[in-house]
Amino acid sequence: MKLIIGASGGVGQGLMKAWEGKDRIGTFFQHQPDERQQNWLPCNVLQPGWADDLLDAAGPELPDTLVLCTGILHGADNQPEKSITRFDRDWFTRSVAINTQPFGELAAAVTTRARRDQGITLAVISAKVGSISDNNLGGWYSYRASKAALNMLVRTTAIEWRHRLPKSTLLALHPGTTDSGLSAPFQKRLPEGQLHSPEYTGQTLANLIDQATPADSGSFLSWDGSLLPW
Ligand SMILES: NC(=O)c1ccc[n+]([C@@H]2O[C@H](COP(=O)([O-])OP(=O)(O)OC[C@H]3O[C@@H](n4cnc5c(N)ncnc54)[C@H](OP(=O)(O)O)[C@@H]3O)[C@@H](O)[C@H]2O)c1
Repeated sequence: MKLIIGASGGVGQGLMKAWEGKDRIGTFFQHQPDERQQNWLPCNVLQPGWADDLLDAAGPELPDTLVLCTGILHGADNQPEKSITRFDRDWFTRSVAINTQPFGELAAAVTTRARRDQGITLAVISAKVGSISDNNLGGWYSYRASKAALNMLVRTTAIEWRHRLPKSTLLALHPGTTDSGLSAPFQKRLPEGQLHSPEYTGQTLANLIDQATPADSGSFLSWDGSLLPW
């Protein structure tokens, strides 16, 4: 069974479509999808204990594939900071609470429940702008920092999984710029052809996830399968 957390968003919906016909459950927060209800569960990653509650609701067996697609880049009163002088403690904390912390909580719940002989794939949608060594443009302080911290959680958990869950795989994925509410305000200056549809992104990420093996665990991969620098 595949569990897609944040399936009401652009990337999540693309994954739901790519795995149509497969045993899958998607979660929504504020936007309830207009589809058959049995495939959907409500989930708020800011709620204490959300990861255990969700795994309990998803069924008696731990899903073999889990993808965490939640994230924020801007809010009603906040745009990504162009200058450090725009740094806002509440926005930074919120960015970490939604972009970083849920992975730690989900990974903890999965690690506690998984058996050593199980082959589970846990993927989280990160972002290329979370790469420290690739950061030549600057800006987007809270988003970049929250994704860099997410990447560190992935890398560190993957080291623990090598010993504890050697048949399982942990991935940080960059989806490519995808047409969604998150990217909508930043699409104007994109070169022709660089904006992917949610369907295209979902298909490319589903292929990566389906083909990943424990040898790939702890990798930061772009949508085209190339390795990204941390
Ligand atoms: N789009 C891009 O170009 C792009 C590029 C690089 C990386 N990414 C990353 O890809 C991931 C998905 O982005 P997207 O473009 O699909 O964004 P999106 O369309 O805005 O979707 C965001 C998802 O997060 C969910 N969410 C937000 N707050 C939540 C909460 N408190 N509890 C549970 N779910 C919550 C939303 O649920 P509701 O809609 O139901 O509220 C929605 O399903 C993010 O991590 C983003 O950083 C996106």
